[in-house]
Amino acid sequence: MNMRICSIIIGLLLSVVTWAAEVKSPNGNIVLKFSLKDGRPTYSMTYKGKDVVLPSHLGLELAKDKHASLGLGERDLMDGFTIEKEETSSFDETWQPVWGETRDIRNHYNEYAVTLMQQWRENVKSSRPGMQLQPRRHHRHIIIRFRVYDDGIGLRYEFPQQPDLNYFIIKEERTEFAMTGDHTAWWIPGDYDTQEQETQESKLSEISSRMHDAVNWGNSSVAVFSDTGVQTSLQMKSADGLYINIHEAACLDYATMHLELCDDFTFVSHLTPDATGLKGCMQTPCTTPWRTVMVSDDARDMLSSNLILNLNEPCKIEDTSWIHPTKYCGVWWEMIVGRGSWHYTDDVPSVDISTFDYTKSKPNGRHCANNETVKRYIDFAAKNGLDQVLVEGWNIGWEDWANMWKRDVFDFVTPYPDFDIKMLNDYAHSKGVKLMMHHETSSSTQNYERHIKEAFELMNRYGYDAVKTGYVGDIIPRGDHHYSQSMNNHYLYVIKEAAKHHVMVNSHEATRPTGLCRTYPNLVGGESARGTEYEAFGGSRPDHTCILPFTRLQGGPMDFTPGILETKLSTWSDNTSWVHTTLCGQLALYLTMYSPLQMAADLPENYERFDDAFQFIRDVACDWDDSRYLEAEPADYITVARKAKGTDNWFIGGKCDENGHKSVIRLDFLDKGRKYDCTIYADAKDAHYETNPKAYTITRKTVKAGDVLKMTEAPGGGFAISLMAK
Ligand code: NOJ
Ligand code: CA
Repeated sequence: MNMRICSIIIGLLLSVVTWAAEVKSPNGNIVLKFSLKDGRPTYSMTYKGKDVVLPSHLGLELAKDKHASLGLGERDLMDGFTIEKEETSSFDETWQPVWGETRDIRNHYNEYAVTLMQQWRENVKSSRPGMQLQPRRHHRHIIIRFRVYDDGIGLRYEFPQQPDLNYFIIKEERTEFAMTGDHTAWWIPGDYDTQEQETQESKLSEISSRMHDAVNWGNSSVAVFSDTGVQTSLQMKSADGLYINIHEAACLDYATMHLELCDDFTFVSHLTPDATGLKGCMQTPCTTPWRTVMVSDDARDMLSSNLILNLNEPCKIEDTSWIHPTKYCGVWWEMIVGRGSWHYTDDVPSVDISTFDYTKSKPNGRHCANNETVKRYIDFAAKNGLDQVLVEGWNIGWEDWANMWKRDVFDFVTPYPDFDIKMLNDYAHSKGVKLMMHHETSSSTQNYERHIKEAFELMNRYGYDAVKTGYVGDIIPRGDHHYSQSMNNHYLYVIKEAAKHHVMVNSHEATRPTGLCRTYPNLVGGESARGTEYEAFGGSRPDHTCILPFTRLQGGPMDFTPGILETKLSTWSDNTSWVHTTLCGQLALYLTMYSPLQMAADLPENYERFDDAFQFIRDVACDWDDSRYLEAEPADYITVARKAKGTDNWFIGGKCDENGHKSVIRLDFLDKGRKYDCTIYADAKDAHYETNPKAYTITRKTVKAGDVLKMTEAPGGGFAISLMAK
């Protein structure tokens, strides 16, 4: 054998990983392997024998910091490890969420936890005068924990308390996800401050060339960091038909993770930095969030998976009786569209809310949060069985609220002169309706934290039990980012303070969710994506809502604010934008965009014009005992049937992209021997989201288990069906 062949063989042998551990999911479909390769933690993952994640390294780079762990922080947690201990276990429980897509959720996995040790000698300076260098032995221990489910895996790093790893600062987490090839991906640009972009569909290899145009440069806070960085949850599809989704679960006291794509289709974690550019300040004992990889050969499994929720801690709120699903309308769309204003006066270029006397200023005549308008919305909610009315622009400070680097922008307790907070709440309560609070913070987070107690006390005094918060603009204090460790701690602080006051939270522009709503179910919704408001800012593509359930919704529900039945905004305003779905497509979203918080976002007068279609919004539930995803393909179509909580009624929604879709729905999930009043809201034959969006039909019939419904969705359309048990 010549030397060259010999060295190739030795090289090949060295590159073959000898796996230390192999863990199977309960049904055996997923196999996770772990080993140390040259002292570096390495894992891989297969599904039904097919590679999903090729051998990928795990580890963290630490920053050098004078205060961190006796100056040891500079030694990375990347390599030089030996295995100290291995533990395997299994877990199987069924739990009931406070609200959700199903009544019961099974949490079933096999676990492997490996304790790794890193040790080295170092010559340290002696504190005794005259003595030179003294040898010192160090050892550090970390645990990498894997949970292997039938629908994916979770892995995280754990740092027990120990002398050589007490405080440390993360420079970067280096968790790799090596993909097997040039998958199709549905991605949005990695960004430290916004997720309000349209999803791109491309091969992994095309991400960098498409990055510039994919960025929503007009957003009020943008911080893209590379040509190849994308956000999670990232949905992919491989050439051999596997649906693969990478995200994270239980992001607590840690920065939000992005994914940086390297040359060989390997993603590496990229954390959101703080104002100093570093990524996390840790004190042991602590853990990272779970890094998740979901996989299936059936796209529907991506949508029905509970992996993210299961990897979060059980509910920490003891009495949850005050948390409830909510259907609401709001004094909102007319400001978004531009007909009315949040602010009260045009008299002044800026205000100092501590001194400005609004009673002496001239009202602009366009301020929407006034007594008369709010009463009209309350009447509308009461008449139509809606639980709450959101009112934005009720509090002083909106004259110069956004992007001014203004610290003391709002106080969250002082109403404008034309908003009588007591009278309006009393009026609402007398009609069985509640007002919903709005706290736009303008991203001035210290200001919000200073006022939060008083703000929640005010809510308790007047009977509000839900707040929509907002984080428009760059974070104040300057330099921090929406998804940094400190901001993630801020959002959690708000959720916990709200819980103390029995307040439900719906956060806009906050960090993307990672299933924390299991632990804190008063987090009933969030935005963290491009919502319906963008239909008034030029529009979103029709396939947008056929992607979000695969991506944004993995971590928790979205306050998408559907239900715009007057799709042409210029019929009642100067706004020339139009909604990129059919009217029935809007109805479908109440099913396909799962949320326990659902808005009927259009104006009361538009609902009155389409009252027969509005009946579906009146009827549809927002909490469920069961959900069945009947059809799904990312960016193409989603069809789901859901059984309303505590009833025998079902609702079905189907939403499709710009190509239209035909559905054949077998009603085999209905109770046998039972009859149902079925109402079908469907796109008319000639409906089209561009040319004829408001053409719809409503048909009624009686159906039973086993019947088949054939539906045709128009381009950009959808359908909605209610099935009321007789
Ligand atoms: C952006 C939010 O998404 C929107 O719903 C809200 O009306 C404005 N900010 C003002 O807070
Ligand atoms: Ca927004």
